[in-house]
Amino acid sequence: MSTKSGSRRQSGQRAANGQNGSRSTNRSAFSWGSPQTGAIAAAAVAGAAIGLAANFGRKLFVQGMGATAGDWSEILTAEHAAALAIFDKIEATSDDQTSARTHLLAKLDYALGKHALQEENVVYPALREANQAHDADALNGEHGYVKTYLYELKRMPKDSPEWIARIRDFRSMLEEHMRMEENEVFPTFRDTLSEEQNGKITAKMNREGLKLA
Ligand SMILES: [Fe+2]
Ligand SMILES: [Fe+2]
Repeated sequence: MSTKSGSRRQSGQRAANGQNGSRSTNRSAFSWGSPQTGAIAAAAVAGAAIGLAANFGRKLFVQGMGATAGDWSEILTAEHAAALAIFDKIEATSDDQTSARTHLLAKLDYALGKHALQEENVVYPALREANQAHDADALNGEHGYVKTYLYELKRMPKDSPEWIARIRDFRSMLEEHMRMEENEVFPTFRDTLSEEQNGKITAKMNREGLKLA
């Protein structure tokens, strides 16, 4: 990382000093006011735009299907299934596979963190706005316990039987939370909204998710 930024700095310095590194023989490509300035500036802007597009593409790639498939409630349901698949992998580990458990717990932490950001920053506020604060607050309160489980699991010895028992408690609590969202709150709310309103929630939610990608 430091090598990369170091070499970038060096090549930037070379460019600023002209092609062969000497200010006296070549005008710098960064000499504002030269006849080429407009073209260079336009090229820089175009380059920045390509860079931004590539970065956005990378984020979508990192997110997998999360930002592209279906409306907000379908995306959240798919993320629930993805989180449960991580639980499956964790539950298949034995007590001596501590590094696998640490790695999978970090994956779960990331997936649930991104998911919570999308729900807490967009979907639950939209529910409150639609006079469904009771459901939004109950679900939001449960997210607090999700964070508490993660907090404890990160600190507990990964090779103890208590660790995997705590994982199972966590999963059953989370499955109940997901059932409430998937079977009751989300479909009911989605059906009260127009296609346009649902589209706006989907777009806002995807933007929140990209913040963490
Ligand atoms: Fe939730
Ligand atoms: Fe959820």
